[in-house]
Amino acid sequence: MSDYRHLNRANWDERAPAHAASGGYALDRFRSDPEHLSDVVRFDLPLLGDVAGLEGAHLQCHIGTDTISLARLGARMTGLDFSPASLAEARRLAAETETDVELVESDVYAAVDVLGAARFDLVFTGIGALCWLPDVRRWGRVVADLLRPGGRLFMRESHPVLWSLDERQDVLAIEYPYFETSEPLVWDDSSTYVETDAVFTQTVTHEWNHGLGEIVTALLDAGMELTGLVEHDSVPYEALPGQMEDVGGGEWRVKDRPERLPHSYTLQAVKRS
Ligand SMILES: C[S@@+](CC[C@H](N)C(=O)[O-])C[C@H]1O[C@@H](n2cnc3c(N)ncnc32)[C@H](O)[C@@H]1O
Repeated sequence: MSDYRHLNRANWDERAPAHAASGGYALDRFRSDPEHLSDVVRFDLPLLGDVAGLEGAHLQCHIGTDTISLARLGARMTGLDFSPASLAEARRLAAETETDVELVESDVYAAVDVLGAARFDLVFTGIGALCWLPDVRRWGRVVADLLRPGGRLFMRESHPVLWSLDERQDVLAIEYPYFETSEPLVWDDSSTYVETDAVFTQTVTHEWNHGLGEIVTALLDAGMELTGLVEHDSVPYEALPGQMEDVGGGEWRVKDRPERLPHSYTLQAVKRS
């Protein structure tokens, strides 16, 4: 396994049990209410529409809360992630909630070999997914190859402008790359994005940003047609600690003149026939 995968997987394996135990992911609500949906999928609903009966792949499914939410909406879901600890939490939740989802351990770049080509009506991904991948063009080809002709990509992701900001400053200041770089951004961060008392030791990660144009072009060049691109003034975690306010529904927004910043975006694209 290449170095970035090794480091990043160790980091996710360590964080997964803490995420599953945290109030942020609200697993108890999935267990107690068979109709409960994750805040992320609830936010998506107006643009996502009816997914009942669709064959769906959720890339980088983590502990399965969005995968299970999509299954509760009637899609036949396969979640894929390279973190065995994340998948163990996802499998436990699926069993506890009696949700029929397939959960597969794989790197995203190997998804077509593992899941099969031209198999899916829907590829769903996002909220902290693309930043773990060094090459967005390679990712675009994976998405296109997983989809049947006419199949749809639905992704809501943190905006690359947000990811380029210096989270240590109380003004919006661009500090990190907006465009994809050959070298990763190397972080050493012992915190995570949910409240937890867990102490982490696998704290070094390698991450990449990808500009919006690079993401769209990767998909167009892979044979996808862009069908929607909506930028949002909120994001489902406190991306800039101390500078954001909780605006409900799991969403966070910069307190001071949020209209300056695209916080996240929803991109939809369809595989050309
Ligand atoms: C922030 S989570 C995805 C978020 C999901 N929206 C959620 O909050 O449940 C990122 C996930 O990407 C997975 N991941 C990172 N790099 C990957 C790779 N190269 N292949 C497959 N999964 C990867 C991690 O294991 C982690 O579960």
